[in-house]
Order: sequence, then structure tokens, then C-alpha cells
Amino acid sequence: MSRATLARRVAPLLLEWWDVHGRKDLSWQRDPSPYRVWVAEIMLQQTQVATVERYYQRFVNRFPDVTTLAGADLDAVLHLWSGLGYYARARNLYRAAGVVRDEYDGALPTDLDALMNLPGIGRSTAGAILALSGDRRHPILDGNAKRVLARLFGIAGWTGSAAKLRVLWDLADACTPAVRPAHYTQAIMDLGATVCTRGRPDCERCPLGRMCVARHAGLTLSIPAPRPRRERPQRAAVLVMLVRDDGAVLLERRPDSGVWGGLWCFPEAETVAAVGDWCLNRIGSAPRQVIVRPVVSHRFTHFDLDMTPVEARIAADTPCVMDGDRWLWYNRYKPAAVGLAAPVARLLESVGELI
Ligand code: ADE
Repeated sequence: MSRATLARRVAPLLLEWWDVHGRKDLSWQRDPSPYRVWVAEIMLQQTQVATVERYYQRFVNRFPDVTTLAGADLDAVLHLWSGLGYYARARNLYRAAGVVRDEYDGALPTDLDALMNLPGIGRSTAGAILALSGDRRHPILDGNAKRVLARLFGIAGWTGSAAKLRVLWDLADACTPAVRPAHYTQAIMDLGATVCTRGRPDCERCPLGRMCVARHAGLTLSIPAPRPRRERPQRAAVLVMLVRDDGAVLLERRPDSGVWGGLWCFPEAETVAAVGDWCLNRIGSAPRQVIVRPVVSHRFTHFDLDMTPVEARIAADTPCVMDGDRWLWYNRYKPAAVGLAAPVARLLESVGELI
């Protein structure tokens, strides 16, 4: 069967499957406005549906529309994002909300290119927003759709190269129907998430199983091929957990760029031995007690980080004046509504445990 013929057969089978087995009660599917779908699609970019469901409702309750989001403090936005990870998504969402308020009167543009010009919105996310909120015919190619199409059409190798992506986008376009594009878009994502999964595809239950090139060639598990391995750099950091006797802990806001950009973290010292000097330089007195805590490892997309937390105790009345935009005495019994990276939140919970 030619690829064009195969492509024409996909939508009717997928829609019939979705009518019975598809997901129809996700939070953003109730009232799928462009804003609500946009927030959901950004959260779903790197995070599974079940986790997103736990964060989504709280987020849209607090920021029900573009104008409210654009007018909020970035800290408040990052606070509700804390734990979801990949914080660049939240910063881009916030920046994009400002652009939509200022340049589009608060309504998300309905033009694909204009949407793709907003921070954090790539071609697939833009297509998903227009299809799911407006029933407009735009192909998508998120991770799930990529896997389904690569297997169905037998596109071997890693699906992330520019050449493979061109082929897959053409196939995505050829498969997307003019009728019910919203349901089709949800259907291909649902099929990828529930049937055509990476490790345990259930080909018996797949509506496209009879036509699937990978299945017939016995290649289902080797398509798509994993990304060629790159060395993951290993980095190390020493975290200064400066704790006042009244329990307040010093946090520093990270610069806007980088993996934890805009989040509040512990300040860093060069080495464990330098923590005493760090205190002398920053607050003008040496800590009363210093405890080196066990290393905490965290895996980022592009590197692994080993953090050595060093807890340093100072008196509650130590006079130290610090710039409020950059420094925060965080009281965990009255926590400020700010964004905390998950390992920082966990370390804050454990302050004092080793003393
Ligand atoms: N993954 C990305 N977008 C999704 C959606 N709208 N529904 C389910 N899974 C998704």
C-alpha cells in the first residue's frame, strides 16, 4: 500500500476507536478555550497527564485568563508550577501572556505562525491549540504522534533528525482529516499514550494494527530508535543552607536563564571548606555550627548535578541587610508563595534534622 493510501485510511479508523476508547473528560476538555488548552499543552510538553491533572486546575483557578496571568507576579506563577519541573515552560508561558495581552488584546492569536512566534510554542503545540480549541485542521507531531506515525509508516531510526522530522510532518499532515480535526488530534495522542506505548505496545487492540508497517516487519520495539547517546556531563555544587536560630533559611533567586531560572534556591559556595568564608563575606560573621549533609543528586535533561548541602547556623539577631529582589529569608512555618525547585523544597523540609 502506498503511503498516501495508508495515510487516507488512518483518520476514520482512529476516530472510530477514539469514540469508544478515547479520553473525553480531561480538565481542559471541559470548556476547551484557547487559553485553557494552551496552558494544558504547555504543562503536557514534558509531563504525563496524571501529574498535569494535579496542577492544572489549581493553576487555571488562580489564573483564569491571559490578562490575569500576564498581570501576576512571576513568583506566584512559579509557585504554582513548583514540582512540575522544566521551569522555562512557566517563564515562557508568563512572557507569552504579556505579549498576548499587549499585542493581541488578550486573545490568543488564531493564526499558526503568530502562535508559533510566542515564547514556548512550537509548531506541534500551536497545531494542538488550534485543533483542540477551534476544531481547525492543523497537524501535530508531539512525542506520541511521532511514535505512532513512525511505527505505522515504518520510519526507522531516530525521529529527532531534521530529515526524519520533515518526513514525519508530511505524514502527520497527510493523515490529519478536514472533518473532526479536534477529535483526531486527541485520538492520535491518546493512542500513543495508551496503546502504541514505547515499551509495551498493545498491537492487538490497535485500530491501525492491521496496516502497521513496523508490526508486520517485527520492528515495533525498535521504532522509534533511541536518540544517539551523548555523554551526560556530571556537575557538582555546594549549597549553603544558612539557618537562623529562629528557623529562617536564606534563599537566593537564580538568574532568569538556566534550568532553575527565576526559582529560589540555596546560595552556592565554591567548596565545602569555603562555606565559613562565604558567611563572613556575606553576613559579616562566622557560623556557630556547620554540618555537611549527604550528597543529593538531581538529573537534569542535559547533565547530572551532585549537590552537597552544608547547613550553617547563625544567631537570629545577626545583622545582615540583603537586597529583597535577590535574597529571601524563607520561613518554612510561614512559607512565602515563591517558586522552589523540588530538591530545594525537600531540603527545606529537612532543615535541622541532623542537629
Ligand atoms: N499530551 C499532550 N497533549 C495532550 C492532550 N491534549 N491530551 C493528552 N495527552 C496529551
